[in-house]
Amino acid sequence: MSANCPAAAVVVLAAGEGTRMKSSTPKVLHEICGRSLVGHVVAAARELDPRELVVVVGHGRELVTAHLAQADPAARTAVQEQQNGTGHAVRMGLEALGGGGRVDGTVIVVCGDTPLLTGETLRSLATTHTTDGNAVTVLTAEVPDATGYGRIVRDEATGAVTAIVEHKDASDVQRAIREINSGVFAFDGQLLADALGKVRTDNSQGEEYLTDVLGILREAGHRVGASVAGDHREIAGINNRVQLAEARRSLNDRLLTEAMLSGVTVVDPATTFIDVTVTFEPDALVHPGTQLLGATHLAAGAEVGPNSRLRDTRVGAGARVDNTVAEGAEVGEQATVGPYAYLRPGTQLGVKAKAGTYVEMKNAVIGDGTKVPHLTYVGDATIGEQSNIGAASVFVNYDGEAKHRTTIGSHCKTGSDNMFVAPVTVGDGAYTAAGSVITKDVPPGSLAVARGQQRNIEGWVARKRPGSAAAKAAQAAVAEPDSES
Ligand code: UD1
Ligand code: CA
Repeated sequence: MSANCPAAAVVVLAAGEGTRMKSSTPKVLHEICGRSLVGHVVAAARELDPRELVVVVGHGRELVTAHLAQADPAARTAVQEQQNGTGHAVRMGLEALGGGGRVDGTVIVVCGDTPLLTGETLRSLATTHTTDGNAVTVLTAEVPDATGYGRIVRDEATGAVTAIVEHKDASDVQRAIREINSGVFAFDGQLLADALGKVRTDNSQGEEYLTDVLGILREAGHRVGASVAGDHREIAGINNRVQLAEARRSLNDRLLTEAMLSGVTVVDPATTFIDVTVTFEPDALVHPGTQLLGATHLAAGAEVGPNSRLRDTRVGAGARVDNTVAEGAEVGEQATVGPYAYLRPGTQLGVKAKAGTYVEMKNAVIGDGTKVPHLTYVGDATIGEQSNIGAASVFVNYDGEAKHRTTIGSHCKTGSDNMFVAPVTVGDGAYTAAGSVITKDVPPGSLAVARGQQRNIEGWVARKRPGSAAAKAAQAAVAEPDSES
């Protein structure tokens, strides 16, 4: 084991059922901040750069295995057919690594349901373990309420850890101990394999307890150590949806704190939610009620919200996005979006472009300086630079069978209430008249008019609606044309 490789192997325990989630989804696949619970644990473990990473799966194993193949293709899985305890689970994990379950070097064991655990804490555990020359080092924490946890029993004289006693097996005196087992350990791989062979099942749950390994190693004269976590919240395991929400809140706070310390203004952290994969540049600003998800990126001075949900969306420097839902979109520098816009995948707004109020776009490339200000659907289109699309226009992209594309050039001015029936092209510098249904290509520089001619039938109201309020108003207007305006 080299110095920059603090762990030879990491074993992630994720075979349990998670009954208290009351869910058809396996517990470790529930998500917070854009990643599954087990995904967070695996990502933290990866910071140790282990040679092997194995996830022990059991309940819902098909789903968990399929998920891991996506989230971390290099992770191995080991099946634990029956949940015979944490010791048994680690044994299954190590056996899947070959070599008769004997790993040379440090083995780290973590649970798949502790998403707040950081790589930093794991590194410091591994370092303590190696520096102190321990056979096993347990990560512990002082918690306000230790109910349900395994208690850390220490020698009164030396303070050395002597055993971990499960809550169900603990005496009243032991239950008063507030230092608990986080479920995270560093082991010497060889000694762990020996000790796991000696773990018995004579406890209240009839299981192979991983925690018994401590006593076994200690009695054999090996060093047993503990590393106390700085923040007990980091080791919190998720068992139900209340804890899931608490963990999400906690992680979200951590992410927002990092963002703010790196120069992002978050107006209201209490109503702002971000995924671990979101990135920012300094002086980005996020207004209340905003969710930033997936690979969303806010460049310097970009301003988003209030009340916006952006997924996998890049917002350029100085752009303004207000009351908007966007997914898979790219917003150019100093572009403006909303209020009340919906940008769907494949939308690309150029520099200083605009997608205004009640505007929906999909698969649309909008050139620099081009504006689509009001009440418009732009689907499957390319628009050049410095063009203006009139209010209430529809890019009619679907003929009931297939989608087609509309191309509009640069410096075009299209009238309000236009229908662009794709496939159709409007050339550079062309105009279209209000109310036009554009079905044929418009040459550059032309004005296209595609609507019925207006016909005024004079005196119709007086003849057909005699005595009505309309007829009286019309009669007065004709008598005194000046007062009309
Ligand atoms: C375990 C510890 C306890 C510690 C607590 C921290 C043991 C005996 N007890 O208790 O000291 O304070 O975690 O949260 O280790 N698992 C398997 N296969 C099994 C059993 C469990 O994969 O056969 C997995 C579970 O999915 C879970 C983890 O191991 O991710 C912990 O198991 P769980 O049953 O939750 O243990 P606790 O009773 O909470
Ligand atoms: Ca647990």
